Amino acid sequence: MLRAMGNGAAGIVLALLVIVGVNVYGGLLVPVGTTDKIEKIEGLASAGSSAEPELSFAELLQQASADDGKKVAKKCVSCHTFDPGQPAKVGPNLANTVGHDKGSKPGFAYSAALQGLPGNWTYEDLNTFLTKPSAFAPGTKMTFAGLPKAKDRAAVIAYLASLTENPPPKPQP
Ligand code: HEC
Repeated sequence: MLRAMGNGAAGIVLALLVIVGVNVYGGLLVPVGTTDKIEKIEGLASAGSSAEPELSFAELLQQASADDGKKVAKKCVSCHTFDPGQPAKVGPNLANTVGHDKGSKPGFAYSAALQGLPGNWTYEDLNTFLTKPSAFAPGTKMTFAGLPKAKDRAAVIAYLASLTENPPPKPQP
C-alpha cells in the first residue's frame, strides 16, 4: 500500500517534470523567421556604422565643401561677417583668418584671452577652438557654445579657408 502510493506520487512528480520541461523548452523556441529578422537588423546596424567610420580632422577637411560651410556659418552670422572688407559685428570679420595671427583683426577690441593666444590660426587650432571656444580660450568674449559635430567644424573651416587669400596648405590625412 505505501509502496503503491509512493509509485503514484513519483508518477505525478514525473508527469509534472515533463510538463514543466516542455513549457520551458517551448519558451525557448523562437517563432519561425525571427532569427532571420534579428540577423538582418544586426546586419543593418553594422552596415550603418561602417558607412560612417570615424574620420580624422584632416580627412574631414579634405572632403569638406565651402558651400556646406556657408550653411553651417548661419550659426555665426549674428555675430560675424565673413566676406572681405565687411565690418565687425559682435565679433571680428572672419575673412583672411586661416593662417593669420590670432586676435589681430584691426579695429576689433579682442578680449585679453584671445589676444593672449600664441601663434597663427592653423586648421587644427580652429578645429579645437570651434569645438568649445571657452575651453580653447578661457575668458573669451565669444559666447558661443561650439560646434559639436566634427563634420560641421571641417565644413565651416573650409569656408573660412575659401575666404582667405593664399591659405596655408591643408593638413595631409
Ligand atoms: C554670440 C556671438 C558669436 C557667435 C555666435 C560666434 N562668434 Fe566667433 N567670435 C565672437 C567674438 C565676440 C569673438 C572675439 C572673441 C574674443 O575677443 O575673445 C569671436 C572670435 C572668433 C574667432 C577668432 C577671430 C580672430 O581674429 O582671431 C573665430 C575664428 C570665430 N570667432 C569663429 C566663429 C565661427 C566659425 C562661428 C560660428 C560657428 C562663431 N565664431 C560664432 C562672437 C561670436
